[in-house]
Amino acid sequence: MIRRRDKGFKWTRKHLIGLRELSREEIEFILDTADGFSQINKRSIKKSPTLRGKLVVNMFFEDSTRTRNSFSLAASRLSADVIEFTKKSSALSKGETLLDTARNLEAMGVDTVVLRHGAGGASKLLSRKINAAIVNAGDGFNEHPTQALLDVYTIKKHRGSLDGLKIGIVGDIANSRVARSNIWAMTKLGAEVTLVAPPTLMPPQVSKLPVRVSYDLDEVIEELDVINMLRIQFERLSSNPFPSKREYSKWFGLTSERMKRAKDDIIVMHPGPMNRGVEIESAVADGKNSVILEQVANGISVRMAVLYLVNKAAAQIEKERGKR
Ligand code: NCD
Repeated sequence: MIRRRDKGFKWTRKHLIGLRELSREEIEFILDTADGFSQINKRSIKKSPTLRGKLVVNMFFEDSTRTRNSFSLAASRLSADVIEFTKKSSALSKGETLLDTARNLEAMGVDTVVLRHGAGGASKLLSRKINAAIVNAGDGFNEHPTQALLDVYTIKKHRGSLDGLKIGIVGDIANSRVARSNIWAMTKLGAEVTLVAPPTLMPPQVSKLPVRVSYDLDEVIEELDVINMLRIQFERLSSNPFPSKREYSKWFGLTSERMKRAKDDIIVMHPGPMNRGVEIESAVADGKNSVILEQVANGISVRMAVLYLVNKAAAQIEKERGKR
Protein backbone atom coordinates (compact mmCIF):
# COMPACT_ATOMS: atom_id res chain seq x y z
CA MET A 1 0.00 0.00 0.00
CA ILE A 2 1.22 3.51 -0.71
CA ARG A 3 1.44 5.70 2.38
CA ARG A 4 -0.34 9.08 2.40
CA ARG A 5 1.99 12.04 2.28
CA ASP A 6 2.21 15.05 4.51
CA LYS A 7 -1.02 17.07 4.20
CA GLY A 8 0.94 20.36 4.19
CA PHE A 9 2.37 19.81 0.68
CA LYS A 10 1.00 22.00 -2.08
CA TRP A 11 1.34 21.19 -5.78
CA THR A 12 2.12 24.34 -7.81
CA ARG A 13 3.19 23.17 -11.27
CA LYS A 14 0.89 23.96 -14.17
CA HIS A 15 3.00 21.90 -16.59
CA LEU A 16 4.53 18.46 -16.41
CA ILE A 17 7.49 18.62 -18.79
CA GLY A 18 9.98 16.25 -17.21
CA LEU A 19 10.94 14.48 -14.00
CA ARG A 20 14.48 15.83 -13.92
CA GLU A 21 13.23 19.08 -12.39
CA LEU A 22 10.84 17.45 -9.89
CA SER A 23 11.68 16.83 -6.23
CA ARG A 24 11.18 13.50 -4.49
CA GLU A 25 8.30 15.10 -2.59
CA GLU A 26 6.57 16.19 -5.80
CA ILE A 27 6.94 12.74 -7.35
CA GLU A 28 5.56 11.08 -4.22
CA PHE A 29 2.68 13.54 -4.15
CA ILE A 30 1.68 12.56 -7.71
CA LEU A 31 1.87 8.87 -6.75
CA ASP A 32 -0.29 9.42 -3.66
CA THR A 33 -2.83 11.35 -5.72
CA ALA A 34 -2.83 8.51 -8.27
CA ASP A 35 -3.52 6.06 -5.48
CA GLY A 36 -6.62 8.04 -4.57
CA PHE A 37 -7.82 7.95 -8.18
CA SER A 38 -7.17 4.21 -8.44
CA GLN A 39 -10.19 3.74 -6.14
CA ILE A 40 -12.43 5.30 -8.83
CA ASN A 41 -11.01 2.85 -11.37
CA LYS A 42 -12.18 -0.05 -9.23
CA ARG A 43 -15.81 1.11 -9.07
CA SER A 44 -18.52 -0.08 -11.44
CA ILE A 45 -19.14 3.54 -12.50
CA LYS A 46 -15.61 4.78 -13.16
CA LYS A 47 -16.29 8.49 -13.31
CA SER A 48 -15.49 11.55 -11.22
CA PRO A 49 -16.74 15.10 -11.95
CA THR A 50 -13.30 16.62 -11.16
CA LEU A 51 -12.60 18.16 -14.60
CA ARG A 52 -16.18 18.71 -15.77
CA GLY A 53 -16.31 21.57 -18.29
CA LYS A 54 -12.55 21.37 -18.96
CA LEU A 55 -11.12 20.65 -22.39
CA VAL A 56 -8.13 18.34 -22.87
CA VAL A 57 -6.48 18.03 -26.30
CA ASN A 58 -4.40 14.98 -27.03
CA MET A 59 -1.87 16.21 -29.60
CA PHE A 60 0.11 13.26 -30.91
CA PHE A 61 2.65 13.93 -33.63
CA GLU A 62 4.07 10.40 -33.24
CA ASP A 63 2.30 7.05 -33.16
CA SER A 64 1.06 5.70 -29.87
CA THR A 65 -1.30 3.03 -28.63
CA ARG A 66 -1.01 2.93 -24.84
CA THR A 67 -0.13 6.50 -23.99
CA ARG A 68 -2.79 8.18 -26.12
CA ASN A 69 -5.63 5.87 -25.11
CA SER A 70 -4.56 6.05 -21.50
CA PHE A 71 -4.64 9.86 -21.49
CA SER A 72 -8.03 9.84 -23.27
CA LEU A 73 -9.45 7.45 -20.74
CA ALA A 74 -7.94 9.35 -17.82
CA ALA A 75 -9.43 12.63 -19.07
CA SER A 76 -12.86 11.15 -19.69
CA ARG A 77 -12.91 9.43 -16.29
CA LEU A 78 -12.43 12.91 -14.83
CA SER A 79 -15.39 14.10 -16.99
CA ALA A 80 -13.30 16.42 -19.19
CA ASP A 81 -14.10 16.91 -22.88
CA VAL A 82 -11.38 15.38 -25.04
CA ILE A 83 -10.23 16.25 -28.56
CA GLU A 84 -8.03 13.73 -30.31
CA PHE A 85 -5.54 15.29 -32.63
CA THR A 86 -3.15 13.18 -34.66
CA LYS A 87 -0.64 14.22 -37.25
CA LYS A 88 -2.13 12.09 -40.01
CA SER A 89 -5.61 13.58 -39.87
CA SER A 90 -4.70 17.22 -39.26
CA ALA A 91 -3.63 20.27 -41.27
CA LEU A 92 -0.04 19.62 -40.19
CA SER A 93 0.24 17.69 -43.39
CA LYS A 94 -0.61 21.02 -45.10
CA GLY A 95 2.35 22.76 -43.48
CA GLU A 96 0.78 24.26 -40.35
CA THR A 97 3.31 24.60 -37.51
CA LEU A 98 3.04 23.15 -34.02
CA LEU A 99 2.63 26.62 -32.61
CA ASP A 100 -0.09 27.76 -35.02
CA THR A 101 -1.94 24.50 -34.47
CA ALA A 102 -1.75 24.91 -30.71
CA ARG A 103 -2.86 28.57 -30.89
CA ASN A 104 -5.91 27.53 -32.89
CA LEU A 105 -6.76 24.90 -30.34
CA GLU A 106 -6.29 27.50 -27.63
CA ALA A 107 -8.82 29.70 -29.40
CA MET A 108 -11.28 26.83 -28.92
CA GLY A 109 -10.70 27.12 -25.19
CA VAL A 110 -8.36 24.22 -24.46
CA ASP A 111 -7.29 23.93 -20.82
CA THR A 112 -4.69 21.16 -21.16
CA VAL A 113 -2.56 20.01 -24.07
CA VAL A 114 -1.11 16.51 -23.84
CA LEU A 115 1.75 16.58 -26.33
CA ARG A 116 3.78 13.85 -27.97
CA HIS A 117 6.36 15.15 -30.42
CA GLY A 118 9.48 13.87 -32.16
CA ALA A 119 11.56 16.87 -31.09
CA GLY A 120 13.12 17.05 -27.64
CA GLY A 121 12.01 20.26 -25.94
CA ALA A 122 8.69 20.55 -27.85
CA SER A 123 6.60 20.53 -24.65
CA LYS A 124 8.75 23.13 -22.98
CA LEU A 125 8.54 25.37 -26.03
CA LEU A 126 4.75 25.08 -26.11
CA SER A 127 4.45 25.83 -22.39
CA ARG A 128 6.16 29.17 -23.01
CA LYS A 129 4.00 30.12 -25.95
CA ILE A 130 0.44 29.24 -25.03
CA ASN A 131 -1.63 29.62 -21.91
CA ALA A 132 -2.89 26.05 -21.53
CA ALA A 133 -1.34 23.55 -19.12
CA ILE A 134 1.09 21.26 -20.96
CA VAL A 135 1.67 17.60 -20.18
CA ASN A 136 4.58 15.96 -21.97
CA ALA A 137 3.59 12.56 -23.40
CA GLY A 138 7.07 11.99 -24.87
CA ASP A 139 9.41 14.49 -26.56
CA GLY A 140 12.08 13.02 -28.81
CA PHE A 141 14.80 11.25 -26.81
CA ASN A 142 14.27 13.57 -23.89
CA GLU A 143 11.54 12.58 -21.41
CA HIS A 144 8.31 10.62 -21.02
CA PRO A 145 7.36 11.58 -17.48
CA THR A 146 4.01 9.82 -17.12
CA GLN A 147 5.53 6.52 -18.27
CA ALA A 148 8.18 6.71 -15.55
CA LEU A 149 5.59 7.76 -12.98
CA LEU A 150 3.46 4.72 -13.77
CA ASP A 151 6.58 2.55 -13.64
CA VAL A 152 7.58 3.70 -10.15
CA TYR A 153 3.94 3.57 -9.02
CA THR A 154 3.82 -0.09 -10.10
CA ILE A 155 7.06 -0.90 -8.28
CA LYS A 156 5.81 0.85 -5.11
CA LYS A 157 2.60 -1.18 -5.24
CA HIS A 158 4.69 -4.34 -5.06
CA ARG A 159 7.53 -3.29 -2.77
CA GLY A 160 6.14 -0.35 -0.75
CA SER A 161 9.22 1.73 -1.48
CA LEU A 162 12.04 2.07 -4.01
CA ASP A 163 14.65 2.87 -1.36
CA GLY A 164 17.68 0.60 -1.84
CA LEU A 165 16.16 -1.39 -4.73
CA LYS A 166 18.51 -2.42 -7.52
CA ILE A 167 16.94 -1.67 -10.88
CA GLY A 168 18.30 -2.59 -14.31
CA ILE A 169 17.19 -0.73 -17.44
CA VAL A 170 18.16 -2.82 -20.42
CA GLY A 171 18.24 -2.09 -24.14
CA ASP A 172 18.17 0.93 -26.39
CA ILE A 173 19.03 3.53 -23.76
CA ALA A 174 20.49 5.96 -26.29
CA ASN A 175 17.16 6.52 -28.05
CA SER A 176 14.88 6.12 -25.08
CA ARG A 177 12.97 8.93 -23.40
CA VAL A 178 11.48 6.26 -21.14
CA ALA A 179 14.98 5.42 -19.84
CA ARG A 180 15.73 9.08 -19.14
CA SER A 181 12.54 9.72 -17.17
CA ASN A 182 12.98 6.37 -15.42
CA ILE A 183 16.48 7.32 -14.29
CA TRP A 184 15.21 10.54 -12.67
CA ALA A 185 12.15 9.00 -11.04
CA MET A 186 13.88 5.88 -9.74
CA THR A 187 17.02 7.54 -8.37
CA LYS A 188 15.07 10.37 -6.73
CA LEU A 189 12.99 7.72 -4.95
CA GLY A 190 16.15 6.03 -3.66
CA ALA A 191 16.79 3.16 -6.10
CA GLU A 192 20.18 2.24 -7.56
CA VAL A 193 19.91 2.18 -11.35
CA THR A 194 22.17 0.22 -13.70
CA LEU A 195 21.93 0.80 -17.44
CA VAL A 196 22.67 -2.30 -19.50
CA ALA A 197 23.23 -2.13 -23.26
CA PRO A 198 25.79 -2.72 -25.97
CA PRO A 199 28.12 0.30 -26.31
CA THR A 200 26.34 1.31 -29.54
CA LEU A 201 23.07 1.82 -27.62
CA MET A 202 24.47 3.72 -24.62
CA PRO A 203 23.95 7.50 -24.65
CA PRO A 204 27.15 9.52 -25.24
CA GLN A 205 26.91 11.51 -21.97
CA VAL A 206 26.19 8.49 -19.78
CA SER A 207 28.89 9.36 -17.23
CA LYS A 208 26.91 12.49 -16.30
CA LEU A 209 23.88 10.44 -15.25
CA PRO A 210 23.41 9.17 -11.66
CA VAL A 211 23.67 5.52 -12.76
CA ARG A 212 25.98 2.53 -13.04
CA VAL A 213 26.74 1.21 -16.50
CA SER A 214 27.16 -2.38 -17.62
CA TYR A 215 27.70 -3.90 -21.04
CA ASP A 216 26.91 -7.40 -19.83
CA LEU A 217 23.44 -8.45 -18.66
CA ASP A 218 24.75 -11.71 -17.22
CA GLU A 219 27.07 -9.75 -14.95
CA VAL A 220 24.18 -7.92 -13.23
CA ILE A 221 21.05 -10.08 -13.57
CA GLU A 222 21.52 -11.89 -10.24
CA GLU A 223 21.50 -8.74 -8.13
CA LEU A 224 18.46 -7.02 -9.67
CA ASP A 225 15.14 -6.49 -7.84
CA VAL A 226 13.53 -4.95 -10.92
CA ILE A 227 14.34 -5.20 -14.61
CA ASN A 228 12.90 -2.84 -17.21
CA MET A 229 13.30 -4.11 -20.78
CA LEU A 230 13.29 -1.56 -23.60
CA ARG A 231 12.51 -1.99 -27.26
CA ILE A 232 15.17 -1.30 -29.87
CA GLN A 233 13.79 1.81 -31.55
CA PHE A 234 14.76 0.85 -35.08
CA GLU A 235 12.77 3.78 -36.48
CA ARG A 236 15.17 6.19 -34.75
CA LEU A 237 18.35 4.43 -35.87
CA SER A 238 20.25 5.27 -39.03
CA SER A 239 22.49 2.20 -38.93
CA ASN A 240 22.35 -1.23 -37.35
CA PRO A 241 23.65 -1.14 -33.76
CA PHE A 242 24.36 -4.91 -33.68
CA PRO A 243 24.93 -7.69 -36.22
CA SER A 244 21.46 -9.29 -35.99
CA LYS A 245 18.35 -9.44 -33.80
CA ARG A 246 19.31 -12.99 -32.89
CA GLU A 247 22.71 -11.87 -31.71
CA TYR A 248 21.16 -9.04 -29.67
CA SER A 249 18.66 -11.38 -28.09
CA LYS A 250 21.41 -13.82 -27.17
CA TRP A 251 23.37 -11.21 -25.18
CA PHE A 252 20.75 -8.73 -24.00
CA GLY A 253 17.36 -10.48 -24.30
CA LEU A 254 15.41 -11.52 -21.22
CA THR A 255 15.03 -15.23 -21.88
CA SER A 256 13.66 -17.99 -19.59
CA GLU A 257 17.19 -19.34 -19.42
CA ARG A 258 18.53 -16.03 -18.10
CA MET A 259 15.60 -15.70 -15.70
CA LYS A 260 16.80 -18.85 -13.90
CA ARG A 261 19.70 -16.79 -12.56
CA ALA A 262 17.54 -13.85 -11.46
CA LYS A 263 16.00 -13.44 -7.99
CA ASP A 264 12.77 -15.43 -7.59
CA ASP A 265 10.72 -12.31 -7.01
CA ILE A 266 12.36 -10.05 -9.64
CA ILE A 267 9.81 -7.64 -11.13
CA VAL A 268 9.81 -7.73 -14.94
CA MET A 269 8.69 -4.53 -16.67
CA HIS A 270 8.33 -3.22 -20.22
CA PRO A 271 6.84 0.10 -21.35
CA GLY A 272 5.56 -1.40 -24.61
CA PRO A 273 5.42 -1.85 -27.50
CA MET A 274 7.18 -5.19 -27.04
CA ASN A 275 9.19 -6.94 -29.69
CA ARG A 276 8.66 -10.49 -28.49
CA GLY A 277 11.64 -12.68 -29.17
CA VAL A 278 14.02 -9.72 -29.44
CA GLU A 279 14.40 -7.95 -26.06
CA ILE A 280 12.04 -10.30 -24.21
CA GLU A 281 10.94 -13.89 -24.68
CA SER A 282 7.18 -14.49 -24.68
CA ALA A 283 7.37 -16.93 -21.76
CA VAL A 284 8.93 -14.16 -19.64
CA ALA A 285 6.65 -11.37 -20.87
CA ASP A 286 3.62 -13.47 -19.92
CA GLY A 287 5.27 -15.16 -16.94
CA LYS A 288 4.70 -14.91 -13.17
CA ASN A 289 7.21 -12.09 -12.61
CA SER A 290 5.79 -9.84 -15.32
CA VAL A 291 3.85 -6.71 -14.33
CA ILE A 292 3.62 -5.41 -17.89
CA LEU A 293 -0.19 -5.26 -18.03
CA GLU A 294 -0.38 -3.87 -14.49
CA GLN A 295 1.79 -0.99 -15.73
CA VAL A 296 -0.81 -0.26 -18.41
CA ALA A 297 -3.68 -0.36 -15.91
CA ASN A 298 -1.83 1.85 -13.41
CA GLY A 299 -1.12 4.37 -16.15
CA ILE A 300 -4.76 5.49 -16.10
CA SER A 301 -4.70 6.44 -12.40
CA VAL A 302 -1.33 8.15 -12.76
CA ARG A 303 -2.52 10.21 -15.74
CA MET A 304 -5.75 11.12 -13.92
CA ALA A 305 -3.56 12.43 -11.09
CA VAL A 306 -1.37 14.45 -13.45
CA LEU A 307 -4.33 15.98 -15.34
CA TYR A 308 -6.02 16.83 -12.05
CA LEU A 309 -2.90 18.42 -10.50
CA VAL A 310 -1.89 20.58 -13.47
CA ASN A 311 -5.46 21.85 -13.83
CA LYS A 312 -5.62 22.62 -10.12
CA ALA A 313 -2.36 24.57 -10.29
CA ALA A 314 -3.58 26.43 -13.41
CA ALA A 315 -6.79 27.45 -11.60
CA GLN A 316 -4.77 28.67 -8.62
CA ILE A 317 -2.47 30.74 -10.85
CA GLU A 318 -5.51 32.23 -12.58
CA LYS A 319 -7.08 33.09 -9.22
CA GLU A 320 -3.93 34.83 -8.00
CA ARG A 321 -3.68 36.77 -11.25
CA GLY A 322 -7.26 37.97 -10.72
CA LYS A 323 -6.40 39.32 -7.27
CA ARG A 324 -3.60 41.49 -8.62
C1 NCD B 1 7.58 4.28 -25.60
C2 NCD B 1 7.66 5.61 -26.27
O1 NCD B 1 6.95 5.92 -27.22
O2 NCD B 1 8.48 6.40 -25.80
N1 NCD B 1 6.36 3.69 -25.49
C3 NCD B 1 5.43 4.16 -24.60
O3 NCD B 1 5.05 5.30 -24.60
N2 NCD B 1 4.94 3.29 -23.71
C4 NCD B 1 8.70 3.39 -25.93
C5 NCD B 1 8.85 2.84 -27.31
O4 NCD B 1 8.32 3.34 -28.30
O5 NCD B 1 9.57 1.84 -27.42
